[in-house]
Amino acid sequence: MSDLPSKVHIHEEGPREGFQIEKGPIATARKIELIDALSETGLEKIQVASFVSPKAVPGWVDADEVVKGFKRKPGINYHVLWLNEKGLQRALMHQKEGAGLDMFGSISTTASETFMRKNTNRGYDDNVRIQGNQIKIYQENNIPVVRASIMTAFGCNYEGPVEVATVIKRLAEILALAEEMGCAIEYVSLADTMGWANPASVKRVVGAVREKWPELGINLHLHDTRGLGIANAYAGMQMGVTEFDSAVAGLGGCPFAALKGAAGNVCTEDLAFLCEEMGIETGIDVDKLVEVAQLAEDIVGHPLAGSLMHAGTLTAARAAAKAA
Ligand code: COA
Repeated sequence: MSDLPSKVHIHEEGPREGFQIEKGPIATARKIELIDALSETGLEKIQVASFVSPKAVPGWVDADEVVKGFKRKPGINYHVLWLNEKGLQRALMHQKEGAGLDMFGSISTTASETFMRKNTNRGYDDNVRIQGNQIKIYQENNIPVVRASIMTAFGCNYEGPVEVATVIKRLAEILALAEEMGCAIEYVSLADTMGWANPASVKRVVGAVREKWPELGINLHLHDTRGLGIANAYAGMQMGVTEFDSAVAGLGGCPFAALKGAAGNVCTEDLAFLCEEMGIETGIDVDKLVEVAQLAEDIVGHPLAGSLMHAGTLTAARAAAKAA
């Protein structure tokens, strides 16, 4: 096990991912209840809402109220998603009103231009211009631009398999822009938006990105669409990746992924369980998180995909075995 990291950082995206795809409507108070419960589980970073167009994503029509309403627990970084200047301006407005959000700049692209158009109504040329405009706003507001992300990095339901060379080309394009504009990017986020990755392709893409930019950290944003989420995360850990996005109970999925049952991120409590069972520190109380996963199921009103939330952790099973 010497090739595995001793600690991994798990970024919870369940609220943002989940409420963007649920048919709902889900009461604002219940969204806040989920975020507050997540804050009690040892998570260090939670993505709480999505400042995108409510016409595109009706589930986040109440993002402003959610951001105003949840309890801030000291030590946790709470952040929100935006994909355009309007969304960024909404986040800045909350910040000026004392929201205490973790504001960091992220420049983004996709390996599939068709998906970019479906998701954000823009193509590559427009995207570079839009990312440049956003960098200016970050700089005017003293927000560090630290992250470069690429969606559909492993395959796309519209365009098919994605070559590693395409991932490198698209990342190079936005990293060149970041350098030109004086940003110190710290890490790259590789997203398997549509569940095309497998452990071998995770190793191939992570290996190629690391070879090209050895100074950058790597985050994996994996979806569990075809049941390989945990295996893919494990492959990432074998490559030394220590940053993962995940969603409690396996909530979520991208509404623009051309998949009827688009699955959410790899399930947080299942991923944390994998780590803790193997002696990899996460800082997460897995038993508490299982309770939050069950709460999430109650909030959305239908069964969710997580395994541990149905089977239970081994804490109770070990105690029962000992007592027998
Ligand atoms: N917040 C609130 N409203 C927004 C908004 C935002 N961030 N961005 C756009 N809008 C509104 C505009 O005000 C406009 O409203 P109007 O018709 O009443 O004037 C309308 O949405 C269209 O705006 P426009 O700038 O033309 O955007 P667009 O139609 O080109 O869409 C996006 C671009 C990015 C806003 C839209 O595609 C989107 O929000 N996509 C969401 C993608 C997503 O969440 N994916 C899942 C996670 S990756």
